[in-house]
Amino acid sequence: MTPDVRPLVAGNWKMNGLRASLDQLKAIGEGVKGPLSDKVESLICPPATLLYVATAVVTESPLAIGAQDCHTAISGAHTGDISAEMIADCFGTYVIVGHSERRTDHAESDALVRAKAEAALAADVAAIICIGETGDERKAGQTLDVLERQLRDSVPDGATAARVVIAYEPVWAIGTGLTPSAADVEEAHAFLRAELIARFSSEGKSIRILYGGSVKPGNAADLMAIANVDGALIGGASLKAEDFLAIYRSYETLLA
Ligand code: PGA
Repeated sequence: MTPDVRPLVAGNWKMNGLRASLDQLKAIGEGVKGPLSDKVESLICPPATLLYVATAVVTESPLAIGAQDCHTAISGAHTGDISAEMIADCFGTYVIVGHSERRTDHAESDALVRAKAEAALAADVAAIICIGETGDERKAGQTLDVLERQLRDSVPDGATAARVVIAYEPVWAIGTGLTPSAADVEEAHAFLRAELIARFSSEGKSIRILYGGSVKPGNAADLMAIANVDGALIGGASLKAEDFLAIYRSYETLLA
């Protein structure tokens, strides 16, 4: 946690979710109602096919809805892509950019990720910018070098705490059930905090740094308690309302 920073518990449904999954979304929307929502922000990023209907399902809930990627352009001849303006038009308020699956599957570079984040900010959509080392990079002792480069090159100069969120996701921890030790998470987040402050001065103190990679109900409280961990980006466990809500509610004790 970071003093005076409102944590964000975010779910990334990836390429999962049909209309039938809206029941889970509805349950999440209901489950996050209540006093904790003043202190903790919640977000689900369903696939783009469900974006518009998803925002309609949770209009009475504090749950925010976001997308998983956007193009760098506002509109135009880019078959299959969606723009940040389209996300905003569907009442989406966040977009994930630079997820490691996109960096790998679509060879996205830091420069492209940064341009996507800039497009999001221009459309008034907050950007969750993902960074993280691979298993080989960690074994080679390059973790902090990778994070330094990805943070420098993927994050736009106009980043503010209200509009940009960083998600530290060690690639080897995503979908594997493996997580770094608390000491390793603490080291990475402290490093990222120092880099953010060096670049964005006092604004950098409150830019949220989420942890992502095999966050589950059983490990969330321990991970979220670590200094400079300002929430979670959750893949698999965000598909089930019960699991997502259990992670969200770990803040009941942490903030008590
Ligand atoms: P996971 O995915 O929680 O299934 O490990 C995290 C992510 O990719 O954001």
